[in-house]
Amino acid sequence: MEKYSKYKAFKGNVIYSKSKDVLIIKENSYILVTDGVVKEICNQLPYGFPKDNIIDFGNKLIIPGFCDMHVHAPQFLQRGIGMDRELLDWLNTYTYPNEAKFNNKDHARRVYTLFVDELLRQGTLHVNCFPSIHYEASEILFDILEQRGLFAFTGKLNMDQNSPDYYIEDTEQSIIDTERFVKKHHKSGNVKAAIVPRFTITCSEKLLAGLGSLSERYEVPVHSHMCEAVNEMKVVKELFPKYKNGAEIFYKNNLLGQRPTIMAHCIFMDDDVLELMKNPNCMAVHCPDATANINAGGIMPVKKLLKMGINLAIGSDIGSGASLSIARGIASTIEHSKIRNMFDPQWEAVNLTEAFYMATRSGGRYFKNVGAFEEGYCFNALVIDDSNMYSEDITPLERLERFCYVGDDRNICMRYIMGKEVEI
Ligand code: GUN
Ligand code: FE
Repeated sequence: MEKYSKYKAFKGNVIYSKSKDVLIIKENSYILVTDGVVKEICNQLPYGFPKDNIIDFGNKLIIPGFCDMHVHAPQFLQRGIGMDRELLDWLNTYTYPNEAKFNNKDHARRVYTLFVDELLRQGTLHVNCFPSIHYEASEILFDILEQRGLFAFTGKLNMDQNSPDYYIEDTEQSIIDTERFVKKHHKSGNVKAAIVPRFTITCSEKLLAGLGSLSERYEVPVHSHMCEAVNEMKVVKELFPKYKNGAEIFYKNNLLGQRPTIMAHCIFMDDDVLELMKNPNCMAVHCPDATANINAGGIMPVKKLLKMGINLAIGSDIGSGASLSIARGIASTIEHSKIRNMFDPQWEAVNLTEAFYMATRSGGRYFKNVGAFEEGYCFNALVIDDSNMYSEDITPLERLERFCYVGDDRNICMRYIMGKEVEI
């Protein structure tokens, strides 16, 4: 029928989140897609649907592409190194020397190409990136994300104090370069600008206030770290005695909740900080592997934040996290919540439905209409072939769980963005 000539039907076992508590599972169903956008899911094709427009994945799973909501692009080559250090030591010994190399554009192009390739290989189609302080390298990262078709936020990193002399910015220049970046990209397509102060330790109040004004003037989201580690929070207190905590510093400088705001870690939050983070503009990103590797001194109380209605997502946070796999991040989120529950039984462990929601639909709300397969959502999807794991006699939900715990990128046999196959 003419009506369906521009449609495609993707057939398989479809799984996506309706909410934090509800997973939709539709076995042997067709996702009807037109112009890259989901129209409906049906278990029988409409009469006269063109046979050539059916893409039949048989018994495979079809799930939304993952969202990695906190990841450091320039740390790609330092994964798995220095994992015995505590946060501030790790930053000084490994991370700052590594990130300083991105003043070289060839190096930036080479590493950022590898980084984006690996994101796609691992099924991350939506990403919120931390760059380095270098303007040119930040433009290179932006271009590569755009060329490869990802949905992304990225920016130019800011740091003007408590940083080594080979990796620090002049305050005025940092604001000028950030404005240049933001002006160029704040109204872009699927890759957009964000304001990215590293964390309060490396940013003067003058810089933070300047970035807050830019965020307001250009209506640009904010992405940073806060309440990550016991030692880090002690230093914040010493450096900013007139503020109660890192959250208040961001808030009073127009960088928390006034625009969409993503804060990585958010492990140690007093009631006043929780109140700030309840703002629907805010999202806290759980990065379980990073938390363990840099010895934060605690684990995010994920269940508590979910119950409070705080927006939550998952981040790989490489290089303090070691893997770019968000499927692995789902398993880690569940595992870490169980460890936490052993020491603080008042908060139950997280289940698969909740962790999968964080990794797909919840992270996806930052981009709008990604992370699920309801009408109007982008068909940004992964096809999971788990036939190597002997999956004949278990349910689609158990297969999803096993993919997260046991599978890897070799089980992702197709990736689609806006209905188009992604080449890797
Ligand atoms: N806090 C400030 N910078 C960083 C970083 O690069 N990684 C992590 N995990 N925390 C940070
Ligand atoms: Fe980080």
